[in-house]
Amino acid sequence: MTIAAKPVEDLSEAEAVEELTALADEMAGHDARYYQDEAPTISDEAYDALKVRNAAIEARFPHLVRENSPSLRIGAARAEQFAPVVHGVPMLSLDNAFSDEDALEFDARVRRFLRLEEAVRYTAEPKIDGLSASLRYENGVLVQGATRGDGRVGEDVTANLKTIAEIPHRLAGSGWPEVIEIRGEVYFRHEDFAALNAAAEAAGQKTYVNPRNSASGSLRQIDPGVTAGRRLRFFAYAWGQISAPFAETQAEALALLAAWGFQTTRETETVTGGEGLLAAYRRMAELRGTLGFDIDGVVYKVDRLDWQARLGFVSRSPRWAVARKFPAEQARTKLEAIDIQVGRTGAVTPVARLHPVLVGGVTVVNATLHNADEIARKDIRVGDTVILQRAGDVIPQVVGVVLEERPAGAVPFEYPTHCPCPLHTPLARDVQGEDAEGNPVFGVVRRCTGEFACPFQRVEHLIHFCSRRAFDIEGLGIKQIQAFFDEGLIREPADIFRLARNDEKLAELRQRDGYGETSVRNLVASIESRRTIALDRFINALGIRHIGETTAVVLARGYGSAAAFLDAMDKVAAGDGEAQAELDALDQIGEAVIAAAGAYFAEDHNRRIVKDLVDQLTILDAEKPKTDTAVAGKTVVFTGTLERMTRDEAKAQAESLGAKVASSVSKKTDIVVAGPGAGSKLKTATELGVQVMTEDEWLAMVAG
Ligand code: IVH
Repeated sequence: MTIAAKPVEDLSEAEAVEELTALADEMAGHDARYYQDEAPTISDEAYDALKVRNAAIEARFPHLVRENSPSLRIGAARAEQFAPVVHGVPMLSLDNAFSDEDALEFDARVRRFLRLEEAVRYTAEPKIDGLSASLRYENGVLVQGATRGDGRVGEDVTANLKTIAEIPHRLAGSGWPEVIEIRGEVYFRHEDFAALNAAAEAAGQKTYVNPRNSASGSLRQIDPGVTAGRRLRFFAYAWGQISAPFAETQAEALALLAAWGFQTTRETETVTGGEGLLAAYRRMAELRGTLGFDIDGVVYKVDRLDWQARLGFVSRSPRWAVARKFPAEQARTKLEAIDIQVGRTGAVTPVARLHPVLVGGVTVVNATLHNADEIARKDIRVGDTVILQRAGDVIPQVVGVVLEERPAGAVPFEYPTHCPCPLHTPLARDVQGEDAEGNPVFGVVRRCTGEFACPFQRVEHLIHFCSRRAFDIEGLGIKQIQAFFDEGLIREPADIFRLARNDEKLAELRQRDGYGETSVRNLVASIESRRTIALDRFINALGIRHIGETTAVVLARGYGSAAAFLDAMDKVAAGDGEAQAELDALDQIGEAVIAAAGAYFAEDHNRRIVKDLVDQLTILDAEKPKTDTAVAGKTVVFTGTLERMTRDEAKAQAESLGAKVASSVSKKTDIVVAGPGAGSKLKTATELGVQVMTEDEWLAMVAG
């Protein structure tokens, strides 16, 4: 029996020494992965089991307690790259309440403590699921920003926090104390989190499991430039050290924080008594899905600050507040199989097939396992009981394995080396670069090398081809495409247009169940209406890796016509240096696009497919960007409220005049058009000496 498997009471002293060392190492590794990499590899339960074992051994052999024992560590270890910051007032945590009874007991406790007969007023605030930060303002100026750390000492992430648009560098208004530590939560909205992960995935980088991990990882970047590129946000809800009192109630304090330039949660309400607490919880649970960001409960706080002061603290949490948590959106279930899905670009994704289980009110049967490395790292095996997590709109994911429940005989998952399609083509990994010794470094994504020969990829290609942003063919949804593909009616894009003019095949279609005269007529009409197509849609529809909607627009504008584009691509594929340089010179086009376009058009098969398709179509020329206007070639940023046009209009107009529209201000920005309410972008522009104008000035300029 290994030492790790021995019951604590059977360990000899020598074995205990060895086991304590092993546990300390193992837990330090888990701590680093959890706190520094934001990528834990075991479940909380499994980690707790290690902690319990460590404590049990220490209890039996007290003289063996190591100086750096995991039992002596509390909370997060600070990452070494950030300087320590001692909080002026410690950042405490909240006690949890999990039921109506717990919430009522909290109210009863407050009244007992204060000897009150009357009902108590509370604020009920959304409990934002991000990471807390403390911002120190002296004379209204942000001088330091820190993470919570272990509550007493945090990490100095001032430069990173300063990149968050919602954090004022200077307090607005008046009435703020000379010194104030503003406390609040750094978090991601769902759409910004999704965009970040999509970009990471496209670049073959690691993705984050949920918005909270992502916010934490984004804030704790060594390079603030990286943080700046991510749309982190900040809600203020509390304060630490203050040089003077500034409000009488929590509600009043929140209103002042808003007046000083912070975002505060608009869902916060003041309620009275125990019943008020319960109603607020129910309301928040209803609002939860509509917020656009993750919350994990409601925080109740006694509204009167003088009462808060009297209530004070017990150990590490206040007596005047409690967190009423939503039921966990985690669940355990059995992993019945691991399937492999093949996407349009051949990327294969492992999918967990699960015994149906309710997670956060939704029945889940499938979950993503991300990629082969993740499966190996978490050692996920078919038959395992796994921990599932669902956060907001995020696809359910398997976050860990309950090792204690692993069935005997479960074997490590062997990742397939070949595509599950009938052709059984080998899978390959992209080379992402080289290590110090010149050995290739591979990306995590496996890809089927079969391209158009792989039926899975073909169907995905066709689905993409017909999708809204590409050819937008009504009547050819996923189901129809799969069915037409299986029957051999449509094998490649050109077939769609051939089908619309093939009377024999259409007659066959009319005979089918559920495919009457009308639906055939509609299908033909919708295909015919797309026979004439804009160049950028055509390029996007080809489904070339790294060439999506945005890049397709750049390429269409850059080459102007399908003939010019295809001619250039053939040259790029043939390794023509001039053609490659021309492509490289286009805005936002880099190595990845050049390589992907080259690889695509180097394939005879792809060239034939594209040619057959082109023969079926009329492809409209794209408008080349204007070069003879006042703003041609300039980079413009719109900020604040525009009063004469919408954002979309402004962008379209600027682009039609040959300008580029960017969303953030940098040294490369030429003009910032600032409307009322413009904030940090305007400030950055002024600091960088970028030309700033009003909306009217802009309109006058583009008109004349
Ligand atoms: S008040 C002394 N208000 O929850 C109490 N915390 O479990 C200070 N949190 O560390 C915290 N939303 O990260 C407070 N509206 C809210 C909150 C909130 C989220 C987080 C915060 C804190 C944790 C405590």
